[in-house]
Amino acid sequence: MFYPEDIVEEVRRRNDIVDVISPYVKLTRRGGNYFGLCPFHSEKTPSFSVSPQKQMYYCFGCGAGGNSIGFIMEYENYSFQEALKVLANRAGVTLPEVEQTEEEKRAASVRQQLYDVYRDAATFYYYLLRSPAGAKGMEYLRGRKLTDETINRFGLGFAHTSGGLYRYLKEKKGYADEVLSRSGLFKYSESGERRVYDAFWNRVMFPIMDARHRVIAFGGRVMGEGEPKYVNSPATDIFDKSNTLYGLNFAKSSRRKYFLQCEGYMDVIALHQAGFDCAVASLGTSFTSGHAMIIKRHTKDVILTLDSDGAGRKAALRAIPILKNAGLDVRVLSMKPYKDPDEFIKAMGSEAYEERIKQAANAFYFQSDMLREEYDLTDPGGKTQFQRALAESLTQFRDELERNNYLEAVASRYQIDQRLLRDEVARLGGRAVPINPETGDEPERRKKRARDSGITETERLVLSEAFSGGIPGDVFVKLFTPEDFSEGVHRELAEVLADAVKAGARLSPAELLNRYAEDSELSGRAAAVFSASLPEDADPDRKKKILQESIRRLRRLSVERRSAELEADDRTALMELMRLRKRIDTETYEL
Ligand code: CTP
Ligand code: MN
Repeated sequence: MFYPEDIVEEVRRRNDIVDVISPYVKLTRRGGNYFGLCPFHSEKTPSFSVSPQKQMYYCFGCGAGGNSIGFIMEYENYSFQEALKVLANRAGVTLPEVEQTEEEKRAASVRQQLYDVYRDAATFYYYLLRSPAGAKGMEYLRGRKLTDETINRFGLGFAHTSGGLYRYLKEKKGYADEVLSRSGLFKYSESGERRVYDAFWNRVMFPIMDARHRVIAFGGRVMGEGEPKYVNSPATDIFDKSNTLYGLNFAKSSRRKYFLQCEGYMDVIALHQAGFDCAVASLGTSFTSGHAMIIKRHTKDVILTLDSDGAGRKAALRAIPILKNAGLDVRVLSMKPYKDPDEFIKAMGSEAYEERIKQAANAFYFQSDMLREEYDLTDPGGKTQFQRALAESLTQFRDELERNNYLEAVASRYQIDQRLLRDEVARLGGRAVPINPETGDEPERRKKRARDSGITETERLVLSEAFSGGIPGDVFVKLFTPEDFSEGVHRELAEVLADAVKAGARLSPAELLNRYAEDSELSGRAAAVFSASLPEDADPDRKKKILQESIRRLRRLSVERRSAELEADDRTALMELMRLRKRIDTETYEL
């Protein structure tokens, strides 16, 4: 962490969480807490809770959680430092100048200077577009039916003649050539006298932003026809296109449940303008598993809306398995008879597009249609080959019920005898695996998952009660060590708690959450611990009983785990654990 902990904590304490969150989420009081619709996932009934007492938020729906600093980071896509500055300002706290080592300064400075260069370059292009010199660019963008609001929102700009940006950054802004040459914004010719050219000129400029709205690259388009249609920034210390999605900075705050994945700048912008603010694009290059993982952080449903031409369909075919492997549900949207979302929306409007979203079918149909095109179905041999290939692709569904549904659907779609197709699938090794139709899980996995989630709940409850005093500190320390917990954050909290008990210190959940603010996943897990509580309607005796049984359960589970991890010949240790296990059945806990 960058700022001293006590400063961070002072800033946090002087910003009441209810006041911080209220401008963003409509909160209603219920008991001691406030509830509202979660801003981090889409829902109809409020599961987003804010606790004034614990000074934290937690969503029982999506698991997002943290303190006020974490909330601002998550909501505004800010870094820890940025969020802290906002809150310090809000409460009138002056943050100290920060000391950094030479090493930190150097490392931070290359990247930081590149961010600065790109920010200034974006500003330069932005104003140029809105100046007389940029009239041609503005005319082009308006001709493509972009509103002023959209042009501003996406920070679009204009690169005029070569040399303009270089002079601006070098002379006006005083950047050193060293950083300018690393930025990829310039070309250097070494022949004779050294000359510098702007990489972009006479193009409309699309700033590419990271999830935190920082400009990290540009795409520049010719106005009208011309080759190449787009010029893009090269890879730099701050730009890696295989991990960048255009539009993500807005899409990540969308309230829609899915992402729309399209092909390019103009599609993303047209979709956002039409109200589909969940659209993203990989930058014309191939879609990677890195992209899929980024998407997965925000949603589990992806709708492909790639161009309807051959190239677009091929790209879809490549993207589908990558997305599926990342665990995402993939559907494919048809824009026929139009080529891309931009054209479709211009011709048909956003309501028609919304309708196409509803109709988007599971990617499997798209895959099998593509497959069919590879074979000549008028030829019996071709037909057989197609049916074989189709059967083969049906084996990708491990869930029998699901496989059956698709089998029936494609059989009727391509007029194939269902029984024959089924036999072929069976022959190819689509063995029937006993599966729970509700969850799609195999029995073993299902049991394990239920058990795991039970453990998590129990651990949360025990830790939460230990933090709030429901389990006295000395009792907790006597019964548990961090190793008794199954999960990283839980172990860490158990350790922190034990230290505090020994030092006689009191801990506040919100203060502890500072340390998880940098990682929203961990922050949510820690917040889940602090929000765990005994059933409110239970009477005190019953509550005590639940708590005692939870402690006992956790103790047992820990013994089981330790026994399983023992070396086979460690008889003494095993005996010891068996004795402990017996004792746990009858021991009582002073609560
Ligand atoms: N692309 C590129 N270089 C090119 C062509 C395309 O980098 N020479 C990338 C761009 O990111 C572009 C995407 O591929 O946005 C999709 O290409 P295309 O469909 O041709 O561009 P559109 O974004 O649809 O732009 P327009 O509607 O202006 O044709
Ligand atoms: Mn296109």
